[in-house]
Parts: sequence; structure tokens; C-alpha cells
Amino acid sequence: MSTPADLREWIALLEREGELVRVSPEVDPYLEVTEIVDRTVRADGPALFFENPKGASHPLLINQFGTERRMCLAFGVSSLDDAAAKLGSVLEMQPPEGLVDKVRGLKKLKSIADSRPKTVSRAAHHDVILTGDDVNLDLLPIQHCWPGDPAPFITLPAVITHDPSTGTRNVGMYRMQKLDSRSTAMHWQLHKDGRMDYLATDGRLEVAVALGLDPVSAYSASAPLPKHIDEFMLAGFLKGEPVELVPGRTIGIEVPANAEIVLEGYVEQGDLTLEGPFGDHTGYYSAAEPFPVFHVTAMTMRSDAIYPSIVVGKPPAEDAWLGKATERIFLPAIRMSVPEIVDYDLPVAGAFHNCVIVSIRKSFPGQPQKVMHAIWGLGLLSLTKSVVVVDEHVDVHDYEEVFFRVTANVDPKRDVLLTEGPLDHLDHAPTRQFYGGKMGIDATHKGVDEGTREWPEEIVMSDEIKALVDGRWSEYGIGRSSDGANGQSERSLRQLLRR
Ligand SMILES: Cc1cc2nc3c(=O)[nH]c(=O)nc-3n(C[C@H](O)[C@H](O)[C@H](O)COP(=O)(O)O)c2cc1C
Repeated sequence: MSTPADLREWIALLEREGELVRVSPEVDPYLEVTEIVDRTVRADGPALFFENPKGASHPLLINQFGTERRMCLAFGVSSLDDAAAKLGSVLEMQPPEGLVDKVRGLKKLKSIADSRPKTVSRAAHHDVILTGDDVNLDLLPIQHCWPGDPAPFITLPAVITHDPSTGTRNVGMYRMQKLDSRSTAMHWQLHKDGRMDYLATDGRLEVAVALGLDPVSAYSASAPLPKHIDEFMLAGFLKGEPVELVPGRTIGIEVPANAEIVLEGYVEQGDLTLEGPFGDHTGYYSAAEPFPVFHVTAMTMRSDAIYPSIVVGKPPAEDAWLGKATERIFLPAIRMSVPEIVDYDLPVAGAFHNCVIVSIRKSFPGQPQKVMHAIWGLGLLSLTKSVVVVDEHVDVHDYEEVFFRVTANVDPKRDVLLTEGPLDHLDHAPTRQFYGGKMGIDATHKGVDEGTREWPEEIVMSDEIKALVDGRWSEYGIGRSSDGANGQSERSLRQLLRR
């Protein structure tokens, strides 16, 4: 399956699949859109295309990523694990044996080579070019998301910068508070690569913001890649074709040719504004803090440009599936560093940084603690507040089972590790911002070599009796089997949250 080439192809696909509803009455981007979207997301409802946002000249697309099915449609896969497997097959490449292996290996290498973005000369968003005083963010239906927000926020951008010393590109998704019709704040959090680019300049840093991309490129902006890896390369790899870029009109940054809208401009050292509060994915308002001002020097767009948005708030919200995509896609890469990891889950209710549940193939005492420390040392996972470790046969996505293991297998005095380290920028619980306590819970089985009594045997029905009951099930006249024999249903946000 291929992935949509641009936002329009994506919208057409969603419509064909019955996954998008057009809303024609005038709807206010001031809070009203949020309330509609919040109810729709919680009901696993469709993507919404608001044709007449009040006070704006352009329509608004939202909830494009709000279900597992739409996420899979976006990536052209039948399960997010398939997208992960593609990356895994490249990461785990072995020296080829025989001709068939060599050909397969070459194909994989070609898929990496073909992922590099390529420069083209034409872009549909060059239809309208507004520069200087003509730049006008008021044309866009920028949402004022929550009652306590001080202003509207651009919420689904791909923000592009280059490291001033190495020139490497960074693409990130950072909210942008509208300050006036030609400037916004740039919410580069402490641990993010975008902020590093900003801090590395002693003067001006050019910035481009692309809005309304194909769904894989839009997702890639949120992917937690190491600083030296280009997010558009990941997008190209996942799409199976390169992201096409065009030179910016007023700055030396290339931008995706398929964007609906591009904002070009700059930030400057020392030019800060008080940003926030903002109702964020933690479920609380983040504190107002100083962040750089982004001055927009040019705004280019298709004449009928579609403005994309997302609402974050108390989980579950639409960003849950962006996070789940990252969880799945990055599993093979995590396993490269911590090979005993079988699977992991970042519960949506844990706002991603608050909790990681990880299953491991345990073969020596202290291994769960080793894995906890490894997670606290891995990229943005290092900000994780609590890590729960279970044995390999435990399904980390089944929170009831995990709860069972935590309550049954843990001696709190022996198995809870308390330590400290860096915490997420938005974590409001620690006494100090950015730094505080971390908890690891070892819910694995313990052996006598770990100084415990003999571990009891777990109750499991024999395979023979299971097969017998499977074979006779319809005979009993009970109906639907409790193990989901009627087929696996789609996981909903509500199930992810288990509430
Ligand atoms: C909808 C959404 C909004 C986000 N908003 C922000 C934000 O305002 N600031 C921020 O630093 N990270 C934000 N993130 C997370 C970053 O996009 C993510 O950590 C990304 O990997 C950062 O890229 P970087 O490390 O290359 O800077 C957001 C993620 C999503 C999905």
C-alpha cells in the first residue's frame, strides 16, 4: 500500500474510507471546535473538515490521526507494527549469505538511499506569496483551544531549522502561540533539538514552518530522532519515496513542496516573550514561561489552502495515536541498544513521559534494574518518570494483567527503585522544574538467586484441555468466546486508556 502524496490525497482517501465528515455550518475556532473535537475523539469518531471556520478564509482539518485505523491508512500498513518491521529489517541487517540474500540486502540499502529528501523547483503553495506587512496570520483559522489559553495556538506545524554549526536539518512539532498577525511564540522545550539549534546561534536563526503536509511527513515532525538524523529522511523511508523540498522564498531553508501553507521567518537570541499558559497533553495548563518570538517574513500558500490543527488536552486526545505510532516504530531501534526488551507500552493516560511498561527476557538478577537505567538513558525516554518491568510472557498492552503482576509480584521494599534525574519540561509534579524523582518497579518473577523464597508456579491451563474446549466450543451453545474468537476488534482510545 502506498502512502498519500499530500494532504489532499489524504483527505480524499479518508473520505473514500468513510473516515471524514465535512462540517458546513460556521463554527468558531475559539473553543467551539475544541469541544466538538474532544467529543468526537473520545467516541473514536471521524476526521473533521470544518468548511466555514468563523472569521477565517480557509477551512480547518482536524482529528486526521484520531484512530488506529486512520493511523494505519496514513502509513499504508495494516498494523503499526508493520511500519516498525520495515525499520527493524534494516536495523537488523546481517551480512548476506547467497545471491537471494544479497539481492534482498541491496533492496534494503536502496530503500535507505531513496529516503533522502530531494529538491524540486515547483510547489503549489507558491500560488500566494505574502511578504513583509502583507503577512497575515488572521487569514488562518488558528484555534483558541482551551478557556485558560491566552491566545490562539498553531498546534500541528512541522518547524524546520538547521544547526548553525553542522548545518543538519531538524524538524519538530512545537506549539506556536499567535502574538499578532505577523509573529508567534515558539515553544521549544528544554530537551528538544529545535531549542538546541536556537541556543547554538549567537544572532538570528532562520525558521520555516510547514502546515498541511502528507500525514507521514506531518507525523515525522513529532518523532523523537537523535539530533543528527533528519526527520524528513525518516518520512521518506516510511513513505518509500523521498520527501520533495523546494527552496524557501525569503530564507535559505528548504520546505516540503506539498505543504498547504509555509511560514518563513526568524528567531533572534534574547528576543523572548511570555508564552502560555496552554492546556497541554498532560491534562493541565502548562505554566507561562519565556520562549523565543518567531517573526514571520513571508507566508506562502495554496489559494484554497487547508489549515491543519490538533487539540491536545486531558488524555485521550488525538495525539495519542501519534504517540502510539512512535512507540511502535521505535521499538526495533530501542531493541538495538537494549536487546532483552521484548515489548513496551507508553500508556496514553501517562501522557507518554509519565510511565513506560516494558517486558524483558530476564536471565540474570538485576536485569530489570539494568533495563530501567537503560530507559532513563535513552533519548527522550530518559524523561520517563516511572518504569514498570515485567517478564517476557506478560502482555504489556494489557493493563489489567500488568496491574496483576505489579500487585502480585512486587515486594515494595525490595522491588521499587527510587532514583532521580531529568524530567519532562511540562511535568508539574516535581518540586523543581526539569528534575526530580523517578521510580522503577520490578514486577518480574524472582529466582532464589535473588535472595527470595522459592517462587510459586503460575496457574496455566494445559494446552490439551484448551484445544479440546476450542474444538467443542460451538457445541456448548455459550456463543461468543471470551478470548475474542469472533476476530480481533480495533483497539480504541478508550481501551488504550482502560477506563
Ligand atoms: C501535537 C504535538 C504537540 C507538541 N508540542 C510540543 C511543543 O509545543 N514543544 C515541544 O518541545 N515539543 C512538543 N511536542 C513534542 C515534540 O514534537 C517531539 O518531542 C519532537 O521529537 C521534538 O523534536 P526535536 O527533539 O527534534 O526538537 C509535541 C508533540 C505533538 C505530537
